[in-house]
Amino acid sequence: MAKESRRNEIELLSEAFQAFNIATEKLQNSYAALKEETEKLRKEIEEKNKQLEEMSSLLSSVLMSANSAIVALDDNGKIIISNRKFDELYNFYGDKFLDFLMKNMSKGIYEKDFEKSVFRISVGKFNHNGLDGWTFSIDDITEFKEMEKEHRRDEHLKAMGVMAANIAHEIRNPLGSIELFASLLSRDLKNNLEKRSLADSILKGVKSINSTISNILLFSKDVVVKIEKHYLADIIDDVVLYLRHLMIDKNINFINRIDEDSMIYCDKELMKQVFMNLIHNAIDAVDENGKIELYNFCDKEFDVIVVEDNGCGIEKEFLDKIFIPFHTTKTKGTGLGLSIVYKIIKAHKGNIFVESDGKSYTKILIKLKRGENVW
Ligand SMILES: Nc1ncnc2c1ncn2[C@@H]1O[C@H](COP(=O)(O)OP(=O)(O)O)[C@@H](O)[C@H]1O
Ligand SMILES: [Mg+2]
Repeated sequence: MAKESRRNEIELLSEAFQAFNIATEKLQNSYAALKEETEKLRKEIEEKNKQLEEMSSLLSSVLMSANSAIVALDDNGKIIISNRKFDELYNFYGDKFLDFLMKNMSKGIYEKDFEKSVFRISVGKFNHNGLDGWTFSIDDITEFKEMEKEHRRDEHLKAMGVMAANIAHEIRNPLGSIELFASLLSRDLKNNLEKRSLADSILKGVKSINSTISNILLFSKDVVVKIEKHYLADIIDDVVLYLRHLMIDKNINFINRIDEDSMIYCDKELMKQVFMNLIHNAIDAVDENGKIELYNFCDKEFDVIVVEDNGCGIEKEFLDKIFIPFHTTKTKGTGLGLSIVYKIIKAHKGNIFVESDGKSYTKILIKLKRGENVW
């Protein structure tokens, strides 16, 4: 009996042993499978991390190489991320540029003036893991705007030109007869000074209309320049002589600081027309006892000639329009002078710039390319 029960115990033990072995084996297998699975997952994560790293470095180089300035700001205007182009702007303008951006914190696309530049700003809102902010993509479009303006100006000039030429033609013929009769009358009245001065007044009026017509015709024709080397001072002296009586009438303090030795390459008659118009405008702009100053200097590529007056100035809103024909603020003005000046200067491959505070001064800069080889 005891023997029997021991055998049972041994059998039970052996069965248990076997079961234990099987379980161990299963466990071992599962462990191997688990290990394999873990290894696979580790590799997958490693791969994913690598992809993520590559993606983030790709995004960063895309951001950095973008031609637009890009920056993300939080709601308080703190920079979260920015690219190189933006950093350049920020380094140049400093915190005031951030203030400028913060004024435009709403979704949309804007064109805004900042300092002397125009920027196109595209603004988007983002929310990333609970962080709210704004993404700005910024482009400096100052040059583009200038070109657009110049193009519009040229188009305008062309259209008005055709019309003006017709009108000028209609006026010039009868004007010729009036001038002839008035000069005959003046000659016949040489013994009656009082009446003769009336005839001379007609002649003066005719001359003034004639110069307006010259302006109109100049403006409506294509300007052909005949370039030669001239003393700038000679050109200015001729113009001043012609306008002298107007300056005397207003007791103007005329300061001529043009360098006597400066020579410029230009069409003399056309350049006279330029300074005639500029100085005439300055005379109109100043009060009695006003001041007009002329001077010149050279910078790297250009001869620069400046006409400056302490007159009424040109308001900011009008500055854009002064070169457009027929834009005038004068009751007796034609609004042609500056459009002709512009045209002549362009025909000389030069440039013209105007500065004014809109109340106390106007400064006109003419820049002409220096040197023979320009032509
Ligand atoms: N030196 C100046 N000071 C103030 N305003 C000026 C000056 N030059 C030009 N302007 C402004 O520009 C306008 C256009 O000038 P312009 O083309 O010569 O035509 P106009 O003299 O016939 O008015 C003027 O009416 C005036 O408002
Ligand atoms: Mg004028």
